Amino acid sequence: MATVEDTAGARPAAEVLARARDIVGPAVRGAVETLPPAPRAIAEYHFGWRDEAGNPAGGAGGKLFRPALVLLAADAFGGAPETAVPAAVAVELVHNFSLLHDDVMDGDTTRRHRPTAWSVFGVGGAILAGDSLLALAFDVLAAGGHPAAADTVHGLSATVQRLIDGQSRDMAFERRSDVTPAECRAMAEAKTGALLGSACELGAVYGGAGARQCADLRRFGELLGLAFQIADDLLGIWGDPAVTGKPVHSDLRNRKKSLPVVAALGSGTPHAGELAALLAGKHPLEGADLVRAAELVELAGGRDWSERETAALLEAALAHLRAAAPPGRAAAELALLARLATRRDH
Ligand code: IPE
Ligand code: IPE
Ligand code: MG
Ligand code: MG
Repeated sequence: MATVEDTAGARPAAEVLARARDIVGPAVRGAVETLPPAPRAIAEYHFGWRDEAGNPAGGAGGKLFRPALVLLAADAFGGAPETAVPAAVAVELVHNFSLLHDDVMDGDTTRRHRPTAWSVFGVGGAILAGDSLLALAFDVLAAGGHPAAADTVHGLSATVQRLIDGQSRDMAFERRSDVTPAECRAMAEAKTGALLGSACELGAVYGGAGARQCADLRRFGELLGLAFQIADDLLGIWGDPAVTGKPVHSDLRNRKKSLPVVAALGSGTPHAGELAALLAGKHPLEGADLVRAAELVELAGGRDWSERETAALLEAALAHLRAAAPPGRAAAELALLARLATRRDH
């Protein structure tokens, strides 16, 4: 039988994601169609279903990584993946609320290989579309009819507050030069880990898992989320925009204290000093400064540290999965998906 270690018999991660897209994609779209016209049009653009004029478009939406986690977690405890669709839709809606607002906050003009919603429709419209998706998420979860609906709504609400807390700290750290690795880790766990934790926990709840198993699945998701964020931070410095569909060097331009940067700053090397001076300056960082900053993160060991940390976090996450989920195809596929999400070439 397939296990976390022995994934023979598991479907490839690409097939798992495609299945999540087939099951959850239409439900997300159906939910978004209930929104008022203005936020609906912006959300439909953001998801890649329509162009900026409202014509049908086949743009690349998200990977649906979080819905796939929800469905697999339910499956791992014996629930039919289809029964967890409301939870999967709710998590994907929260994720997209956070992206619409994140692009405003980060001032980024590209996401999923297209101009960001705010850069097309304006900041106000993008904020309201995000707000609409957030409210919709709770509606979908509450209407899902699960016996534990009240608990799941409460849990997802707590997760959104953690995400917002993490995003607040992410922004505050741009103006600080003394961010510690522990502060940075806590920030990333809140802004990204909390929602992946909820995805896995909600799936386990819908699959009928016990309290202890749900807590382990949540921890699996949180640690995976942290690893995923570090991998994303690396892509933000060395990724290829043609592959990621997102800008490169935007985090450095914003003087973000991402984990690779904080690791480099704390290395005690001369390169750390030069990087600190560059990031502490008041002038806008452009061109050669950004190339040098990326070089300095690498020379100070931030890139190597991040790669090692991502691998260690992935293993720590998988230990929680192993502790909770019975051996079987779904557990093996959760492990495969976790490995894919933390690779640097996606
Ligand atoms: C991007 O998440 C935001 C982070 C938490 C790093 P994804 O990479 O899952 O975004 P999409 O939905 O696939 O575009
Ligand atoms: C990820 O933010 C976390 C949330 C959106 C809540 P980032 O700013 O690190 O993600 P990308 O790189 O823009 O997708
Ligand atoms: Mg961003
Ligand atoms: Mg951000």
